[in-house]
Amino acid sequence: MKTSAIFFLGLIFKAVVAAPPTDSISYDSETYNVNLEDFNLYDYDENLTVDQGEIEIRTVLPTEHRQIHSSQQLPEDSDEEESTPKLIDGSTQGPTTPGVLGPQTNAGLPTCLLCTCLGNTVYCDDHELAAVPPLPKQTTHFYSRYNKIGKINKSDFANLSKLKKIDLTSNFISEIDEDAFGGLPQLEELVLQDNRIRQLPELPDTMTFIDVSLNKLGSKGIKPEAFKDMKNLHNLYLTDNNLDHIPIPLPEALQALHLQNNNIQELHQDTFCNTKDVTYARRALEDIRLDGNPVNLSKTPQAFMCLPRLPIGRLI
Ligand SMILES: *[C@@H]1O[C@H](CO)[C@@H](O)[C@H](O)[C@H]1NC(C)=O
Ligand SMILES: *[C@@H]1O[C@H](CO)[C@@H](O)[C@H](O)[C@H]1NC(C)=O
Ligand SMILES: *[C@@H]1O[C@H](CO)[C@@H](O)[C@H](O)[C@H]1NC(C)=O
Repeated sequence: MKTSAIFFLGLIFKAVVAAPPTDSISYDSETYNVNLEDFNLYDYDENLTVDQGEIEIRTVLPTEHRQIHSSQQLPEDSDEEESTPKLIDGSTQGPTTPGVLGPQTNAGLPTCLLCTCLGNTVYCDDHELAAVPPLPKQTTHFYSRYNKIGKINKSDFANLSKLKKIDLTSNFISEIDEDAFGGLPQLEELVLQDNRIRQLPELPDTMTFIDVSLNKLGSKGIKPEAFKDMKNLHNLYLTDNNLDHIPIPLPEALQALHLQNNNIQELHQDTFCNTKDVTYARRALEDIRLDGNPVNLSKTPQAFMCLPRLPIGRLI
């Protein structure tokens, strides 16, 4: 990933250097190095606020790309036109392969011109999108944070059999078709932080990471046994919702369960452990957050016996 990012930057850098210098554009290799370090695609910041996100946006690749291409100050358009196809998806197909820019969007542009495609990753952050754009079939990672998407349609992710990660942080999503994600055989990470979701749809059992924090999930928002068969689910983040129960059963692989700032009032003895089997140990689950809930953890001391660490929450 990093290698192709550097490659990508190299191409932009060449394109910029090739253009005659102007007052308005003063990119240099220093700047790009700094940006690359700031922009770590895979480091997950769970506490990301909208403000931090906006700062991040100014340093991400797609914005740089867009700034160069939309600048009115560039005296010659020909240089950047020439370099455009090389910037896109060059790693999987030749630059002249038809359809290399991805499917056509409603805006009349192929997805990889409207957004940015790097290898099989599609970046559409901060593009005022009202809907998920049609994605190339080979897409593995899709980022569309800070847009205005209100609904996820069943067809949006249909037939994307390679898709592993979807990040739709900070949109206006209030509705998701029940089968929108169900047909994705390789989906592992789903980030829906900061939306308006009341009902979590069916998710594939391949999930490893789910973040639906800062939404409107209530008591009926999560189906019974929703996470039971997710054998590789490590992180489940449901912070800042309106949940009044812990979604059980929790898969054995779970390492982090964040439920702070919900409305959980009581805990059952067997939520984490098994009172009938005192030898049972749930070793993986080291990080449970229950602070910001009206639950008194001291009332159920037996409920934590099998855990490596006590949950964080009210003990009085
Ligand atoms: C979702 O699909 C419906 C038809 O099922 C369509 O009318 C609507 O425009 C679509 N919404 C988006 C955001 O694509
Ligand atoms: C998905 O694939 C099926 C069968 O190949 C096809 O009938 C359907 O139209 C495709 N859906 C979309 C949204 O491309
Ligand atoms: C919390 O539970 C403990 C143990 O049952 C009890 O002594 C304490 O009074 C409870 N605190 C509140 C605020 O209910």
